[in-house]
Amino acid sequence: MSAADIEAAVRILRTGGVVAFPTETVYGLGADASNPAAVERIFAIKGRPAHHPLIVHLADAAQLPHWARDIPGDARTLAAHFWPGPLTLILKRTPQVPDCVTGGQDTVGLRVPNHPVALALLCAVGGGIAAPSANRFGRVSPTTAAHVRAELGGDVDMILDGGPCRVGLESTIVSLVGERPVILRPGGISRAMLVQVLGSDIQMGAAAEDAPRAPGTLEAHYAPRTPLFVVSAQVLEETARGFAARRQRAGIIQIESGTVPCTEANIRRFMMPRDAETYGQRLYAVLREGDEAGLHALLVEQVPEDDTWLAVHDRLSRAARAHSPDTP
Ligand code: TXA
Ligand code: MG
Repeated sequence: MSAADIEAAVRILRTGGVVAFPTETVYGLGADASNPAAVERIFAIKGRPAHHPLIVHLADAAQLPHWARDIPGDARTLAAHFWPGPLTLILKRTPQVPDCVTGGQDTVGLRVPNHPVALALLCAVGGGIAAPSANRFGRVSPTTAAHVRAELGGDVDMILDGGPCRVGLESTIVSLVGERPVILRPGGISRAMLVQVLGSDIQMGAAAEDAPRAPGTLEAHYAPRTPLFVVSAQVLEETARGFAARRQRAGIIQIESGTVPCTEANIRRFMMPRDAETYGQRLYAVLREGDEAGLHALLVEQVPEDDTWLAVHDRLSRAARAHSPDTP
């Protein structure tokens, strides 16, 4: 990654092109947020329905007033604490924000990502970059440049390689357009961190009273191609052997526990770290590996339910719901 790469990317963005770039959460598929034709290309490449709003990425919080109006104190507090970082704020939009960016809503999602390549690009381009995750609609977000290349390849004008993403799951989304802040999507910034900084409790979920519509938080989302089932630790082995007995190959995604499980033909094991942060960082790459291994099913050991695991838990439940409500 060189200064010339950033310059090339800036030229592409200024002329209506589309550039995939790294952030600390996942790779984004970026276009000039003030150019509707460029933004339309993102929707075409992703196959994303037009009413799904995009996040506008900014170089710093000083750019907020161009994109958002009536900015509440809580928004300024959160921006001051967590930007650059994995937090998206939903705020009332200004008239300058194109309709195609917001899905026609009166609000806009804004975030300053914490990645040197993203920040270099944003500073050099000067304006906002509208960017969803750089995957086809409904699929797992990419956490390496190789993931983007494999999935979108020649459809994008340029892919900036900034190495593997540090967080690995999408940003936390907080809406600040209602009476109280609401978490629309759990992510890299935990609920406890938000509560600590705001000094008050914060509601969870799109069903909350003050929540605006967040179509990307559809139940069936973030899914690998392989059917995925969340299974308790007690029945993990038994369920996998059930597949093997039917001559089907299952993958087990389990948390490392000290004892090394025996290897069996027809069972592919992915061992995951015990801490939520590293687990989240690795999850999407493992789901892609599961797809590449041509498995009949992915059996994921249930993860703890406490606050630190909220984002992982959320993505796993969505991935499981994408295929079938039945258990194997
Ligand atoms: O970490 C991330 O947030 C990554 C990186 C690239 O920044 N981006 C990302 O974008 O995950 P995307 O488009 O895959 O997900 C954005 C989510 C969607 O669920 C969308 O509905 C929601 O943000 N969103 C965007 N603008 C919104 C708005 N005005 N109101 C409610 N939800 C909004
Ligand atoms: Mg996405």
